[in-house]
Amino acid sequence: MQSEVRVSSQEPIDHISENIYGHFAEHLGRCIYGGLWVGDDDRVETEDGIRMDTVSLLRGLNMPVLRWPGGCFADDYHWEDGVGPREDRPRRRNLWWTQGRENVPEESNEFGTDEFLRLCQLLDTDPYIAVNVGSSTPQEALDWIEYCNYGGDTELADRRRENGQEEPYGVKYWGIGNENWGCGGRFAPDEYADEYRRFANYFNGFDKLMNEDSTEFIACGHLTDDWNKVFFDSLNGGMEFGPGSFLGMGSPFNLMDHFSVHRYYQAGGDTDFTDEQYYKIFARAQKVGGDIDRAAETISEYVPEGEIGIIVDEWGVWHPEARSDNGLEQENTVRDALTTAGVLDLIHARADVVSMANIAQLVNVLQCLVQTDEEAAWRTPTYHVFDLYENHVGQTALETSVDTEQREIEGEDHDVPMVSASASEGDGELFVTASNRRHDEAELLTVDVGSSAYSVSSATVLFEDNDIREYSTKENAESFEASDLAVTDDGDGTITFEAPPASVVGLTLTE
Ligand code: AHR
Repeated sequence: MQSEVRVSSQEPIDHISENIYGHFAEHLGRCIYGGLWVGDDDRVETEDGIRMDTVSLLRGLNMPVLRWPGGCFADDYHWEDGVGPREDRPRRRNLWWTQGRENVPEESNEFGTDEFLRLCQLLDTDPYIAVNVGSSTPQEALDWIEYCNYGGDTELADRRRENGQEEPYGVKYWGIGNENWGCGGRFAPDEYADEYRRFANYFNGFDKLMNEDSTEFIACGHLTDDWNKVFFDSLNGGMEFGPGSFLGMGSPFNLMDHFSVHRYYQAGGDTDFTDEQYYKIFARAQKVGGDIDRAAETISEYVPEGEIGIIVDEWGVWHPEARSDNGLEQENTVRDALTTAGVLDLIHARADVVSMANIAQLVNVLQCLVQTDEEAAWRTPTYHVFDLYENHVGQTALETSVDTEQREIEGEDHDVPMVSASASEGDGELFVTASNRRHDEAELLTVDVGSSAYSVSSATVLFEDNDIREYSTKENAESFEASDLAVTDDGDGTITFEAPPASVVGLTLTE
C-alpha cells in the first residue's frame, strides 16, 4: 500500500514545549517502591536509596518534568509524613491504593519530598508536585511550598536544611488537586472552583512574597465540556472580572497557568486482542486530540489565547490486566508503543496550546517506560518511541498532512488513518516521524517536505522485526532497539521508503 506525507514549512504551528515529553510517577504498585526507590537494598547500585540502573536508563530520555506523588495517591497524602528521619516517619494506608485489597502494601513514607526532589536532581528534570485538595487545607499546601522553595530563616525552611537541602529546591509546577470530580474530593465543578481559588490564592500570595513569578499553578479538569464550563464559570465566585474583583487581583484566571485533562484507552487485552481491537485502540487513543481541542475551545471563551496552557498529565494505555491488586501492571507491547507515536503526533499538531504532557506512568505501572525486577531494569517499546521522538523537542511543529487509507472502526466516531505523522523544524534541521499502523503489510511512504534545501542525514526505524503482540522482558528488551532504514532521497525534497508493518520511522533532514 502507498501513502504520502506532506510537510509544510510555510505553516509553522508553534514551538513544541519540551514538557510535552514529561512523565508521571505515583506511589502505586512498584512505580516508586521497587522501581525507583530500594532504600538499603544492596542488590542494585543506589544513590541515596534511589536505584541507579533505572535512573541511568531514564537519563537517556532527557526527561523535562516529572509529576508526583499522584494521581489519586496525592489526594490522600500529607507531605509531612514523608520528611525527616526515615525511622520516625509514620506508616499510613493510602485510601485509594490500599483500600481493602490484599497484597497491596501500606505506605512506609520512606520516599517523600526530599527523596523525590533528589531523584529529580539525579535525572536533571523539573519536579511537578500535585497537592492534596480533597482532604487537606491551603495551609498544608502553603507549608509544603515554603518547605521546598523558601530561602529565608523560617521553621519550615530550616527543617528542609536539617533534612539535608540547604538551597531552596525551586519547585516550579504545582498541581492544585487531582481528578477532583473523583478521588480528589468528589467536588461538583463549582465547588472545585471555590477550592481552586482558595488554594491558588495562597500559592499566589507566596509567589508574591518571594517577589518572583517562578511558580506555575495547574487546575485539574474533566473530560466533559459541561463540567469544565461550570468550573470556569464559577471561578470568579460570581463577581465581575477586572480591577477590584478578587481583592484587587483582577481575574481569577491570573491564578491559573495550566489546565489539565486525563485520557486512558484500551481495546481487548494487553497481549490478547483481535485484529479489530488492534485498530480500535488507535481510534480510542486519538481521542486525546479531541480532548485538547475541546479544552482549548472552552478556555478560549474565558482568556486570550496562550494565557492558560493545556496539560495532558495522565495519558496512555490502561489494559484490563492492570488492576489495583497487581499494582496496575500490564505487559507493554509494540501495539502500545505505536499508539504513543500517534498521540505524540496529535500533540505536536496542537503545539500552539499544549504546554505539558505526562504519560502514565514512569516505571512498572501502566504504560511504563522502564520495567524492573529485583536486580535488573530494562526499556519498554514505548521508551524507544519517546527516544526516537526526542528530536522534536524544542523545534517548531509544522503543519503535516497524510494522504492514507482511513479504516472504519465499528462503534468509534473516527476512522483510523493507516499512517500517522508529524514534523518539526529548527536550527537547520527538519525532523519527520511517521508510523505505519498496518500490521500485515509494508507501506510505501513518500514524504514531501516541500523544499529541495533539505536532504536526509539519518533514517531509523523501530519494531522492524517485532510482532505487534511482543512485549518487553528482561531477556528480549534489546530486540526493540532502533535500526537504520534505507530511504531514497530524490534531492527535490521528496523521500521515499518502505515502512515495515507496524513500525515507527524517524527521518532527520539537514540543510
Ligand atoms: O494513573 C492511575 C490513576 O488514574 C491515577 O491515580 C488517577 O489520577 C487516575 O484515575
